Amino acid sequence: MLFVADFLDTPLRGAVLVGISLALGGVAWALWVLRPWQRRAPQAAVGLGLTLVCSGAATVATGQALLLILKMLELSESFDRDVLGSFVVTQHFLAAGARILVALAVTAAVLWLRCAPDRAARWLVVTVLSVALAASGAWLTHATGRLEDRPALMTLTALHQTAASVWVGGLLQLAGYWWLARRQPLFDALWPELVGRFSRLALTSVLVLVLTALPVTWMYTASLSGLVGTGYGALVLTKVALLGAALLLAAFNWRTARRAGEPRAPAALRTRLPYLVEAEAIILVMILLTAATLSAQPPSADLAAAHRATVGEVVEVFRPKLPSLHTPSVEIMRMNRAATAGAMVERSRAAYLWSNYSHNVAGLILLGMSLVALGGPIVRPAVARQWPLGFVALAAFLYLRAAANEGTWPFGALRLWEVGAEGVQHRIAAILVLGLGVLEWRARAHPERSGLLPCALPALAAAGAVLLLTHSHTAFQAKSSFLVQVTHTTMGALAVLLVAARWLELRLGPPTNRLAGAAASGAMLMIALVLVFYR
Ligand code: HEM
Repeated sequence: MLFVADFLDTPLRGAVLVGISLALGGVAWALWVLRPWQRRAPQAAVGLGLTLVCSGAATVATGQALLLILKMLELSESFDRDVLGSFVVTQHFLAAGARILVALAVTAAVLWLRCAPDRAARWLVVTVLSVALAASGAWLTHATGRLEDRPALMTLTALHQTAASVWVGGLLQLAGYWWLARRQPLFDALWPELVGRFSRLALTSVLVLVLTALPVTWMYTASLSGLVGTGYGALVLTKVALLGAALLLAAFNWRTARRAGEPRAPAALRTRLPYLVEAEAIILVMILLTAATLSAQPPSADLAAAHRATVGEVVEVFRPKLPSLHTPSVEIMRMNRAATAGAMVERSRAAYLWSNYSHNVAGLILLGMSLVALGGPIVRPAVARQWPLGFVALAAFLYLRAAANEGTWPFGALRLWEVGAEGVQHRIAAILVLGLGVLEWRARAHPERSGLLPCALPALAAAGAVLLLTHSHTAFQAKSSFLVQVTHTTMGALAVLLVAARWLELRLGPPTNRLAGAAASGAMLMIALVLVFYR
């Protein structure tokens, strides 16, 4: 049970954050952009928007309730049933319970509003309840556990979360509206005006988001080593890097949106902006999942200096070095497992060597694939199209290494459910990589009859990115464990860029799609290099 709770915790927190974004962003979109009481926005657009708000609020209620149930199961397994009596009177339980009730109230109020969306009084009720939903988050963050500056930190975190939700949720609504606009001229006529209004809402959200993030980050990280040398700091930096990528796309859209109201709006408003919006939304949802992992890690300020890595140690992890091509034998690993079974001991030298070899060889396979994907089209296009087959070799390698290390089939009798959360994650990674290889190879071999197959790479790579970004090893992790996690988090962030770039390659027309394709292969190359230099 503890394993299931551990495995589901971050995805559920992520789902709650996505739900909040759909709810709060959808209400902000309706009030600021659609303005249904003016009766200019088509009914179907208001209906779609409210459906997204309703599903978001229902997701928050369900996700938060499941998180509470898992926590109670975890507690009663770790202690005894009496502990639940103490748990239900904690601030955490009460705050989570209150959030579930508010989310249910938002769901019900939106269903009521759907019956008469032009009634201002109903909008007022939904807005008040949404503000309560936004505020309820303040009692569920790290801020509530601080001894100093608690009210300020709670307010800043709630504002940060709300600004993020308005941006992400609004963007998802814009993407939804485009889906309608492509089908009906009535919707299309309003598109330029809505894009212009949304761009002002998004800009305000970004400003609030960044201005609230700065003091919160300073209070929780407190030093350069807190920012660079801990799991918490690494996740904050990952968010900053991904925010940079999202803002790059947003800047193109902002330029286009500024001219949207002119009589001769630029063609990019319909040929490029909607697809950049989709890619921006992909990156932002991934940042939300990173935020979910972040809120489950102890802030760097709470870690003793001995548990933080120095800048030099982090640089050493990424520094170019020759790959390690010597591995301990399966027999040595079996004896190593027997010697350390059940004991909380420092990882052995053999385990480190084993891990280095696994990562470095995986990196070499990926490096070869990236180089063929990048350079192949210029030299031999027919050969270049075969690069996804490398994923099949990579999947086999990943599975066999994990099986040999843990003693599962074909190397031992250990059963799959006995390998722990990390072991299961490694198996899922191997299956994802295999699926990715087969589907992408087919999509490239027969582009004319590939249908939805080209979407497999972004979809499966997104699943891989989620695994990497939410793959936290322990709560209070040792420095050595952080130095492993930092490479995984970096690869997760690069995988997000790969997903967004490949999505744009599929959606945009020539020649911009070729640029996006090269960016996707470039991100894959960077992931390969992180693996090749891994220690
Ligand atoms: C300059 C970039 C950013 C920085 C430095 C930053 C930093 C932070 C920090 C330090 C926290 C506090 C977490 C805690 O309670 O320990 C946080 C929370 C959060 N951030 Fe950001 N952030 C940034 C950008 C973003 C973006 C772009 C989004 C989404 C679009 C986002 C979404 C969130 C959310 C939803 C939370 C609340 C998580 C929770 O309590 O479950 N952040 N951020």
